[in-house]
Amino acid sequence: MKFAAFRFSAALAVVILIGVVAWLFLAGRNQSVPLQAVASPLQMQGDVLQPILPLSPVAGLDPGRVALGERLFHDARLSADFSVSCATCHNLTAGGVDGQRFSLGIGGAVGKINAPTVFNSAYSLAQFWNGRAATLEEQAAGPIQNPIEMGATWSQVLSRLEQDAELAGEFRRLYRDGLTTDNVLNAIATFERSLVTVDSRFDRYLRGDRQALSALEMDGFRRFREFGCTSCHQGMLIGGNMFQKFGVLGDYFAGRAITEADLGRYNVTRREEDRHVFKVPSLRNVARTAPYFHDGSAATLDQAVLVMARYQLGRDLSAADVEAIVAFLQTLNGELPPVTRR
Ligand code: HEC
Ligand code: HEC
Repeated sequence: MKFAAFRFSAALAVVILIGVVAWLFLAGRNQSVPLQAVASPLQMQGDVLQPILPLSPVAGLDPGRVALGERLFHDARLSADFSVSCATCHNLTAGGVDGQRFSLGIGGAVGKINAPTVFNSAYSLAQFWNGRAATLEEQAAGPIQNPIEMGATWSQVLSRLEQDAELAGEFRRLYRDGLTTDNVLNAIATFERSLVTVDSRFDRYLRGDRQALSALEMDGFRRFREFGCTSCHQGMLIGGNMFQKFGVLGDYFAGRAITEADLGRYNVTRREEDRHVFKVPSLRNVARTAPYFHDGSAATLDQAVLVMARYQLGRDLSAADVEAIVAFLQTLNGELPPVTRR
């Protein structure tokens, strides 16, 4: 009897010990990764919340192709009238955008949608606001041939580049089949994959540097999670990993003429439920990429945050909420890639 009691309390002690060790382990983990995205009532069925992680560079890029792509990115021979390059609308020293509501293409043609940044686009689930391009290669073919952007044809571009013996030689050195449409696109896309803005203050905080954020910024991150912004802006890009409707809890488009661009993903799928659905943009470097939204309608980050809370979460934010959240968003500015420092 006594022996059985001893055995029981020994077993109990072991169970308690395992419990304590497990608790310490989990508590410790929670402390080193305190920033898991929180579930929110808005979470759609089937959506898996991704934790917010620090950005890491894309591994294994061919440095020769990156350098070739960098040249092409800045090369106006890719536009019909030699006046526009990718960098015209994606200025790498200014957040990877042009700062305009709508971009200006060849001959001063005005675009119909706001230019997003090229930074960190390697990690997006798809390219363009409506996700119509699956890869960066596929994306890059768009602007070159778009009549209101670069307005060129491939035969035009390839014959111009072929006349540049040095450049054509670079293509032969780096690609088995030399200068081709696919290889122009691959070089540009490879360069874009190198445009990752690592080491923001928020990333340092995520890696455990408790001094990296001020009290106000930390408070902003808390509100960002508690209000449910993370139900859509999550994962390594704090966005860029799902499509969502603009106007979940209110009609953002009420009382205005709807443009084709406003239809969003409907233009890709022609499904009614995709009307006004857009790729959730990454919030990395967002303080550098005004104006905001696909229609460039928000001139400031304060305004964009208010609109988001109103139409995506059905909540009217106080001035203190906006101040804290914007302070947090400013900590998402990463280091600009080396190419921008030349
Ligand atoms: C005239 C301005 C202009 C030029 C030139 C231009 N772009 Fe863009 N870029 C835009 C606009 C506007 C969009 C958004 C279009 C849309 O979503 O329908 C965009 C979208 C993109 C995206 C998608 C980003 C995302 O988050 O979805 C990438 C990548 C990109 N451009 C790279 C390039 C490259 C590479 C070139 C050169 C080959 C280039 N752009 C030339 C204006 C321009
Ligand atoms: C239901 C999903 C959802 C929620 C919740 C949400 N967003 Fe968004 N967010 C989006 C979508 C979709 C867009 C793109 C809208 C557009 O331009 O068409 C966007 C755009 C933005 C932009 C503009 C980015 C740019 O580059 O133009 C900011 C800033 C932003 N959100 C911040 C927030 C903040 C802060 C919260 C919380 C208060 C929040 N979002 C909540 C889906 C969401």
